[in-house]
Amino acid sequence: MIQMKYKQLISASLVSMLLTGVSALADNHKVKLAPLSDSDFIDDGAPHEGKVVLGKFLMFDKILSGNMNISCATCHHPMTNTGDGLSLPIGEGGNGLGMTRDTGSSADAVVERVPRNSPHVWNEGAREFTAMFLDGRVELDDAYPSGCKTPAGNNLPDNLENILACQAMFPVTSATEMAGQGDENPIAVLAELGNLTGVWELLAERLRAPENGYVELFIDAFEDIDDASDITYGHAANAISAYERVFWRADNSPFDRYLRGDKKAMSRNAIEGMAAIARRPECTGLYRDERYTPCQGDCSVYRTARWHGVQPRRYRSNH
Ligand code: HEC
Repeated sequence: MIQMKYKQLISASLVSMLLTGVSALADNHKVKLAPLSDSDFIDDGAPHEGKVVLGKFLMFDKILSGNMNISCATCHHPMTNTGDGLSLPIGEGGNGLGMTRDTGSSADAVVERVPRNSPHVWNEGAREFTAMFLDGRVELDDAYPSGCKTPAGNNLPDNLENILACQAMFPVTSATEMAGQGDENPIAVLAELGNLTGVWELLAERLRAPENGYVELFIDAFEDIDDASDITYGHAANAISAYERVFWRADNSPFDRYLRGDKKAMSRNAIEGMAAIARRPECTGLYRDERYTPCQGDCSVYRTARWHGVQPRRYRSNH
């Protein structure tokens, strides 16, 4: 069972403490709230600094795409809330960034748009997240050498450090997202054949090349790297994960500060709103049932709801 944090919603006593005169919660909707701390995150929120520095470069570097025309950050950019601001992402071959990114036209047009919304990547380093992607197709599973059950089966390398690193192995293998189409480049060719190991090896070759400037950063970040020949794409994925977990951690909102004891962090209206949510059986029902149930599909929606204290859109029609 996943251990949930924010020790979920509000106990009747807290609510009545906050709002005298507000009717108490029904007993079966009582849930407790508690603030987040470093220990709620992988590596206690403090991965090796060298990995974080390296990961920052990699996250924004188009070198990880077959045609060298798109980076992870094109779809997960801090300026667009770690998403891309679009309903459906425009992958490799598109032009521009954020809401101004376009598909190109006629012969230059992208073949297709990525068929799913690009989710935010806030707080993904929380230990409680044991599945990635909307359908949960990357999940922690000790039965695999990598520690993750994924569409790559046993082909995933065994040096991946956590679930975010497992996830970072995949965007580079997708023709539409990063690899490129048909015979446009050698990475695209291998991706089309489903040769993921080959894709990762070609990317590692780029990272090993002295002219790309990465070798020293990898040596500084990883004990098992002594020279360029030791670099693998798995190491890159570990570094990207470290960057995401440090820079895209967000647990200092007024709500978080309020839970940590700063009673002035939230306005009275916001406190009343929090209590109002706690009073609604359909809302607390969501938290009570879904928060304590491992995600079985639709993970990002679930996660967004959970971390922002709102309900997923698919539930709004019930109100
Ligand atoms: C073309 C746009 C695009 C690019 C480039 C891209 N992503 Fe994503 N990312 C997405 C989409 C779309 C999803 C959701 C896919 C799904 O759920 O099936 C996603 C999902 C994720 C998730 C999982 C979020 C969750 O809550 O489950 C993480 C983490 C992530 N991407 C990180 C990365 C990293 C790291 C890279 C680069 C190696 C990258 N992305 C490149 C569009 C993109």
